[in-house]
Amino acid sequence: MRSSWIVSNSTLSSQVVDPSIKRADAVPIEVRGLSKRFGAVEAVADLDFTVAPGRITGFLGPNGAGKTTTLRMLLGLVRPTSGTALIGGQRYRDIVDPLRRVGALLEATSFHPARRARDHLRMCALGAHVERARVEEVLEVVGLKDSARRRVGGFSLGMRQRLGLATALLGDPAVLILDEPANGLDPQGIAWLRQFLRYLARQGHTVLVSSHLLAEMAQTVDDVVIIAGGRARASGPLSDLTGRVHLAMRVRTPEADRLQGILHAAHLAYRRLAQDVVVVDGVSAEQLGPLLARSQIVTYELVSQGTDLEAVFLSLTGPGVHPPAATGGTARGVGAPR
Ligand SMILES: Nc1ncnc2c1ncn2[C@@H]1O[C@H](COP(=O)(O)OP(=O)(O)OP(=O)(O)O)[C@@H](O)[C@H]1O
Ligand SMILES: [Mg+2]
Repeated sequence: MRSSWIVSNSTLSSQVVDPSIKRADAVPIEVRGLSKRFGAVEAVADLDFTVAPGRITGFLGPNGAGKTTTLRMLLGLVRPTSGTALIGGQRYRDIVDPLRRVGALLEATSFHPARRARDHLRMCALGAHVERARVEEVLEVVGLKDSARRRVGGFSLGMRQRLGLATALLGDPAVLILDEPANGLDPQGIAWLRQFLRYLARQGHTVLVSSHLLAEMAQTVDDVVIIAGGRARASGPLSDLTGRVHLAMRVRTPEADRLQGILHAAHLAYRRLAQDVVVVDGVSAEQLGPLLARSQIVTYELVSQGTDLEAVFLSLTGPGVHPPAATGGTARGVGAPR
């Protein structure tokens, strides 16, 4: 098992990944009726969700939604006002050898600036009773091998994120709780993180990863828990959310009359908005484009007019949205335990 950790960007999706590898120590994360009040601020209110092993769960919400507070409660760093946050049926503080069970990456992790990356990991390994060789493995895994001798004070934000991830992975934990790990990563870094999280999930890890950007996570996560104002707005498989995406294409053409006939014959719903504008419902550009080409319709514009996933996310998390009205559709409703 250990040797399977030695992966680099190029090998991640190839020979190293053995889909049959499943962790025997896989456990779920269960949050039930979780609330936290800081004085007058209700940071988290009556939150319920479950994170399944072998899947990536995106914990999504805008700034100030209560993500970090929830993750800190899971990690025993903040005491809940009420409710429970359990990992494998236990509170974090009751877990024996927690660094080997739960890996965490929290916001604004501070590293001693004068310490070299390798030395930081060696110190952490010592504290977690993890053998030294593991330090080299995690450096390799997160792509920091070449920077291992550099002082952390000179690290970019993305490099710090990678070092934080390496620290979380030191004890080879079955559960990973990552707060905004994509922050500061460049597009290659985000692509790498995506591949890496998928790799972990395939091995049977339980992965809970927060983000304030759905777009960043949409290609990565299996399940979503969406919160805003401390309250759950929707939870369930991402596919339930994508089911709410409404496709429509706006076509500007001097041949609108002829296009109408073609759409009618193709049994496609459409709306004529102007002399030269037709909106076709329920199709993507990839579907409509070839039909226009086949029909030799002169097209001046072909523009997406529907709601995309980001618009669905914004409608769930935006101001003035109050549960449970926001949780219609097919995504699981507020508070429904999974
Ligand atoms: N220690 C604290 N004392 C007082 N208020 C707090 C404390 N920690 C968090 N809050 C408040 O709780 C709310 C939720 O904050 P939290 O950091 O959990 O949000 P978040 O979803 O992680 O946001 P971001 O995307 O900006 O990281 C905010 O209103 C915040 O100001
Ligand atoms: Mg946060």
